[in-house]
Amino acid sequence: MMTVNLPVISIHRPVSPFDKAWSAFQSLYPAYANTRVLDELRRREYGRLDNQGHVYLDYTGGSLYAKSQLTAHHALLNHHVFGNPHSQNPTSLAMTERVEQGRRTILDYFNASPEEYVVIFTANASGAIKLVGEAYPFTGQSHYLLTADNHNSINGIRQFAEAKGAQISYIPVVPPELCLDLATIPEYLRLGRPQAPNLLAFPAQSNFSGVQHPLELIQVAHARGWDVLLDAASFAPTNRLDVSRWQPDFVTLSFYKIFGYPTGIGCLLARRSALAKLQRPWFAGGAVSLVSVRSQHHLMAPDEMGYEDGTVNYINIPAVEIGLKYVRRISMDVIHTRVQILTEWLIDRLLKLQHQNGHPLVYLHGPKEMQRRGGTLAMNFYDPAGVPFNVFVVEQLANKANISLRTGCFCNPGASEFAHGLDAQQLDTFWQSCPTPTPASLNEYMLAQHTRAVGATRVSVGLVSNFADVYKFIVFARSFLNRSVSAM
Ligand SMILES: Cc1ncc(COP(=O)(O)O)c(C=O)c1O
Repeated sequence: MMTVNLPVISIHRPVSPFDKAWSAFQSLYPAYANTRVLDELRRREYGRLDNQGHVYLDYTGGSLYAKSQLTAHHALLNHHVFGNPHSQNPTSLAMTERVEQGRRTILDYFNASPEEYVVIFTANASGAIKLVGEAYPFTGQSHYLLTADNHNSINGIRQFAEAKGAQISYIPVVPPELCLDLATIPEYLRLGRPQAPNLLAFPAQSNFSGVQHPLELIQVAHARGWDVLLDAASFAPTNRLDVSRWQPDFVTLSFYKIFGYPTGIGCLLARRSALAKLQRPWFAGGAVSLVSVRSQHHLMAPDEMGYEDGTVNYINIPAVEIGLKYVRRISMDVIHTRVQILTEWLIDRLLKLQHQNGHPLVYLHGPKEMQRRGGTLAMNFYDPAGVPFNVFVVEQLANKANISLRTGCFCNPGASEFAHGLDAQQLDTFWQSCPTPTPASLNEYMLAQHTRAVGATRVSVGLVSNFADVYKFIVFARSFLNRSVSAM
């Protein structure tokens, strides 16, 4: 047989800037290799993300769902006949069992004992927060204490507190880190009169700066007789929350923020003893055991049932169980490790970006170190003369690059006001002088009167983020280097 010797041609692909960055990243963070399972998952379950060239950096807004979550949920619905769980017929009982199974899975996921805690299904975290706010037994002697860094749904409880004559106090956060000054906490807790019902509310993780406020505060507040509402909406998606360890009275969250699907379901995880203190301002179908119209009596249904108004979102509740099991199979530790590494790299790179005149491009709000922070970063871009780029312009340019991020104050005005150094007097003047207050008019006013920008650009990493996502954001950020706001 004749053999032909073919010349050996070696093809050297030039090393791209991405390849270089990727290999440096891997040497810097060897632990990233332990999270490879997420890359395989991204290929298999979230192919649409890369097929369509999306750079998804809005996990604090909402997480993404896997293909298999949808398939499993639809298969379940196709296989069974499910009726409204309020009846007692076979299809209803089958659904009731699924709903109860959903509650057990949630308790188990957060390591909450069913003897101590109940799960109340709500439409979202805000629905859970409102349940507590409207039923908390505030009196004229009570105090509602909350961190300035809070989502508006937690701020909104102040309306219920005020209507019942309770006092309201905010604990400030300290810029630039936007953490609490822990030395001042006992002073704030002393504001609560010992015999009155007093409520402290704070987020386990800020949806503005990513700060993780210390969960030890729960115990400190309990020691002084306070009830504690822990808003876990932006913490739970990338951190393990052990309810038995921290013992919050109320925990609020939305499931789409953890695993993307379904929307429309959140929960209030409530300690039975704390739930017993609440006084519901009304009753609804499903939440009462017995009502009389002619004698106008009613008896609330026991435990969680007394807090679920009308029919729960029963067709979607099994999808919550599917989602929690899915996350558990991946392991929250793997997700957490990846998010921490990507965030650390992102912070390091952002803070190194400098214009030719040596001035920094990025001002990052919140901690620069990874202790006590999660994967949410709020920032502003500045030009070489120190003039801030309008966040809406940043958003438009990001949209063109198919980067999904968020701008504004993210329903967390307190963190934003502290981050930008706006004081109460400046804000009062704005509210009094502006006939139609809007985020845009606030921005214009503060720029004109106090040369301060309001609002920030937020990027957040999560469940299936990868190095390419954060790398592409750095490339995008670099496009602002040496450009002036006026020229743009
Ligand atoms: C910390 C925090 N709390 C509460 C909420 C409210 O969640 P939802 O809009 O699902 O009610 C959010 C939403 O972004 C959040 O980030």
